[in-house]
Parts: sequence; C-alpha cells; structure tokens
Amino acid sequence: MILVTGATGKLGRLVVEGLLKQIPAQQLAIAVRNPEKASDFAARGVQVRRADYSQPDTLQSAFAGVEKVLLISSNEVGQRLEQHRAAVAAAKKAGVRLLAYTSILHADTSGLALAAEHKGTEELIRASGIPFVFLRNGWYTENYTENLAPALAHGAIVGSSGEGRIAVATRADYAAAAVAVLTRPGHENKIYELGGDTPLTLTELATEVARQTGKAIVYKNLPPDQYKGVLTQAGVPGPFAGVLVDSDLGAARGELNDTSGELRRLIGRPTTPLADAVAAVLPR
Ligand SMILES: NC(=O)c1ccc[n+]([C@@H]2O[C@H](COP(=O)([O-])OP(=O)(O)OC[C@H]3O[C@@H](n4cnc5c(N)ncnc54)[C@H](OP(=O)(O)O)[C@@H]3O)[C@@H](O)[C@H]2O)c1
Repeated sequence: MILVTGATGKLGRLVVEGLLKQIPAQQLAIAVRNPEKASDFAARGVQVRRADYSQPDTLQSAFAGVEKVLLISSNEVGQRLEQHRAAVAAAKKAGVRLLAYTSILHADTSGLALAAEHKGTEELIRASGIPFVFLRNGWYTENYTENLAPALAHGAIVGSSGEGRIAVATRADYAAAAVAVLTRPGHENKIYELGGDTPLTLTELATEVARQTGKAIVYKNLPPDQYKGVLTQAGVPGPFAGVLVDSDLGAARGELNDTSGELRRLIGRPTTPLADAVAAVLPR
C-alpha cells in the first residue's frame, strides 16, 4: 500500500493521478485533512484517510498498514518542522519501509529562508532510520505562469532575482518524479536535485510571454523593499512577502539553479518547456 499526504493539493492531485495509471486504486491510500475534498478519489476506489499534520494522532491512524509514504511538505510555513516531525514519528510507528519527502533544491546548503524547515525535516527523517527518498524540488513553473495577470495588465514582470537562473519545472514534472520513486525499485536513501532542463531568467520569461501575447512585457528588477511593497499591495501578507523576496534574492545568487538533469532522468522524458507552460494559461 502506497499512501500520499497533501493529496488534495495541486501537486498531490497530480501524484495520485499518476499513481492510478500505474497501480490499482486498492493499493493506494491518501491522508488528507478534509476527506470531502477527496470524494472524487474515493469514488475511484482510493482509500481516503483523515489526517491533519497538526494532530499527531490522526497521522498515526492514517499511516497504519502502509508500506510507502509520500510526505508532501505542508504549506503552513513556520509550523512545518513540528508538523513533519509528527508525520515522521507516525511513519516510524507504522513500520513504513520507504518515506519519500518533497524537499527543496539543495536543501542542505541553500541560503533561502524557506529551506530551513526542509533541511530540518530531512534531518528528522535521516535520524528516524526509515529508508528515505528526498525529492528536492526546484521552483514550479506555475509560480510564474499562474500569476501572469498583473504582468499582462502592467506590461512588466517584477521581482528581485536579477538575472539569476531558476530551474523551473511544472508540478506535473515533479509529480512524475514522485510516481517514479514510489513505483520503481532502487531509490532507497537517494537524494534527487530536481529542476527543469532549461533554467530561465525572468527576462527570458518576460520575453516568452511577450512573444506569445504580442504585448510589450519586460522584466523589471526591483530593490527588495520595493518588491516587498508590490507584493503587500497586491495582498500578500507581510511575513510571506518577506519570504518571497528572500527567495528571489536567493535566486539572484543562483540558489534556485540546477543543471544536474536528474529530473529528466527520473521521469524518462524532457521536462515541460516554458513555451508549453505559458501557452497552457493563455486564452486560445
Ligand atoms: N517548489 C515550489 O515552487 C513550491 C511552491 C509552493 C509550495 N511548495 C511546497 O510544495 C508543497 C506542495 O505544493 P502544492 O502546489 O501542492 O501546494 P498546495 O496546493 O498548497 O497543497 C498543500 C497541501 O498541504 C495540505 N496541508 C496543509 N496543511 C495541512 C495540515 N495541517 N494537515 C494536512 N494537510 C495539510 C493541504 O491540504 P488542503 O488540500 O486541505 O488545503 C494541501 O493538500 C507545498 O505544500 C509547499 O510545501 C513548493
């Protein structure tokens, strides 16, 4: 039995869909905090178990009888280490034989503020003694393509990442990597640095959006305070805006770049080209 947490999230849904193409639904369970959101999966024969990362007891019952777990990192930044600690303890108690975890690119050396909870979680998993796989995911292409409306309205993509290259890949690409490590042998105690085949700068992103829309769109690099101001004005809560600015500054230092090709090798195909990801969100 394979169990996926965070399965009602955007990445989790793609992982479940990918697994359902490879294994019978009866061999798949998901642990979600709101089972109603997973009624479609239940109707297809997937076992839906309720578990909240902040309620350790629920994790322990959800993980019972499971052989492999994909722990999709929580999105509750700041609470994640304790939440993941509970998940790792539950996996240990359940005798899980493989714990895959969606981490962050170069988690052990990254200077990004976001990396700290991932690094801490990796350490907890190692200390547990459970055979693990760290899927160190780079940035999602969708971090940009899902947020193009202001760029189209103002003719500019803004950020503080300078000309730093960012090895973006789509959620579907990262989901395919998770499916690969869960369904094929030989991934125990491996660490995969995962990024897209063609790392991009935000200038290149702006050029591609301009090309496909026929509009004048440029990348405008802003000093960190100004970028934070843009984000907070757009409704991003202050602390999270700070985290996003910090990530951009990390990208400017090259910390979100990767040219290892490990994602391409794991999924056995090229990663999704930027042009396709942009086209997917523009009106036809
Ligand atoms: N690489 C990147 O660029 C990037 C970008 C954003 C996030 N991330 C990380 O990657 C993860 C997956 O990405 P995503 O796009 O799928 O994010 P997402 O759509 O926000 O999904 C997060 C999932 O975590 C679940 N969750 C949150 N708090 C929980 C709790 N207390 N107990 C149980 N489940 C909880 C959510 O449950 P509900 O469905 O009930 O809300 C959701 O299913 C994120 O959580 C975050 O750690 C990476």
